[in-house]
Amino acid sequence: MSPLSRRQLLALGAAGAGAAAVGGAGLWWTGGGGQALGGGRELVQPEVLSSRDGVLDLALEAAPARVRIGAREAHVQAFNGSLPGPTLRVRAGDTLRVSMTNRLEAPTNLHVHGLHVSPEGHGDNPFVSIGPGESFDYEYVLPDDHPPGTYWYHPHHHGHVADQLAAGLYGTIVVEDPDPVPVARERVLVISDLTLDGSGDLAEVTPMERMRGREGETVLVNGRLRPSATAAPGERELWRVVNACPSRFLRLSLDGQTLRLSGRDLGRLPEAVGVTEVTLAPGNRVELLVDTREGTSTLVAAPVDRGGMAGMMDGMMGGTSGRGGSGGDPGSGEPVDLLSLEVAGEPAGHLDPVPPGPSLRDLREESVAARRTLDFAMGGMGGGMMGGGGGPGRMMSFTIDGQEFDAERTDQRVRVGAVEEWTLTNASPMDHPVHLHVWPMQVVAEEGRDASGARWQDVVNVPAFGQVTVRVAFEDFGGRSVFHCHILDHEDLGMMGTLEAR
Ligand code: C2O
Ligand code: CU
Ligand code: CU
Repeated sequence: MSPLSRRQLLALGAAGAGAAAVGGAGLWWTGGGGQALGGGRELVQPEVLSSRDGVLDLALEAAPARVRIGAREAHVQAFNGSLPGPTLRVRAGDTLRVSMTNRLEAPTNLHVHGLHVSPEGHGDNPFVSIGPGESFDYEYVLPDDHPPGTYWYHPHHHGHVADQLAAGLYGTIVVEDPDPVPVARERVLVISDLTLDGSGDLAEVTPMERMRGREGETVLVNGRLRPSATAAPGERELWRVVNACPSRFLRLSLDGQTLRLSGRDLGRLPEAVGVTEVTLAPGNRVELLVDTREGTSTLVAAPVDRGGMAGMMDGMMGGTSGRGGSGGDPGSGEPVDLLSLEVAGEPAGHLDPVPPGPSLRDLREESVAARRTLDFAMGGMGGGMMGGGGGPGRMMSFTIDGQEFDAERTDQRVRVGAVEEWTLTNASPMDHPVHLHVWPMQVVAEEGRDASGARWQDVVNVPAFGQVTVRVAFEDFGGRSVFHCHILDHEDLGMMGTLEAR
């Protein structure tokens, strides 16, 4: 069945499904009367801060914030008071300076996800810790040949990453395309999810939810609940979509519109490819070209089966699985409506064709200096279910090559300038979307098949009991950095390793 016809089948039940999807949030949402939301349903763009003369200098404050979500007040955490934080627009060769202040009660720091910049010192250094009340000045220097694209920023302090993302700390970074596709307008769409309790506070997260990877009951686009946008027929838009959810995968479709994928994570594709749906693991971004046609369309996120712990846990947990449908494993939920696009009015003039992007580097043609295998696993329960002194996070271990994260230990040493081939294996019943900082990965084989074309990503999903082979050119920078599962609860539970390039 094509995604569109599936979508049409679901359309009849959509109102009910939408209500069910948020129903678990209980008081917080249903009190608002569902559709009886006040104004503010329009899609808004985050504030934009652009570089000038090669520099973008800004202050970011991570702090508790009160925002309106739907008809209610929610108590979240935000950069500079808004969900998402400001959109930062820079160019290759620019210097981005961020003076970050922590007004939270927990330590934090800042990561520029996907940027190819130095991991050392005041650069994209994941080992920095900014205590409550403290500040830290980051400086990121983008190389002159930095690929254009949609990147993002979020805190990265081990042990707090999922909590701080789920609370609202994220924002977009755009590296301008020197040869942009002509479009009527661009939209940044940051998709996030969170769960609020009856008083608008962030809900407690159970140990079970952390092990699965929490999925918030409320899914937002640019901090709003099911906003709407308008366009005229015959226009072309560029949508920069960021999956800022801590764990939720997004299988996106937009019925009735012509969609083309023009970028994934980094760079622009040589040719935009027609798609009916596109799947983003947590951390992934896509750039979509939307050629508008009259009518009302809905951007829908269909559930994605990313495995679960049913086999591993159910006996042990005695059915005390989390909220939600059948056992609560991801993929068992209902589709979620994210955004409606109303296309009406006078048709716009004719659309110029999309110019091709530059051809991509292909590491399959380059020689490989080293090959490694990294095993992502969920381990046994040493010491019994809830017992032991390790706390709830220790119910199950999340490891790479049998080890939990240790910032002091260096797990992989690579030579600056080397091209390496890494095989990422997953011995667990859940998917693990693997992310490497600083250096992007080219997928060369997946599920036993060679990849077609030069597919570059900075988050690569390694399916349950599956494996993926990537190549990485460890170029331009030396220093220590990390790789980890981008189900950020898994990262916080230990599924992160360190790497040193020199
Ligand atoms: Cu978006 Cu290390 O993460
Ligand atoms: Cu990252
Ligand atoms: Cu994982």
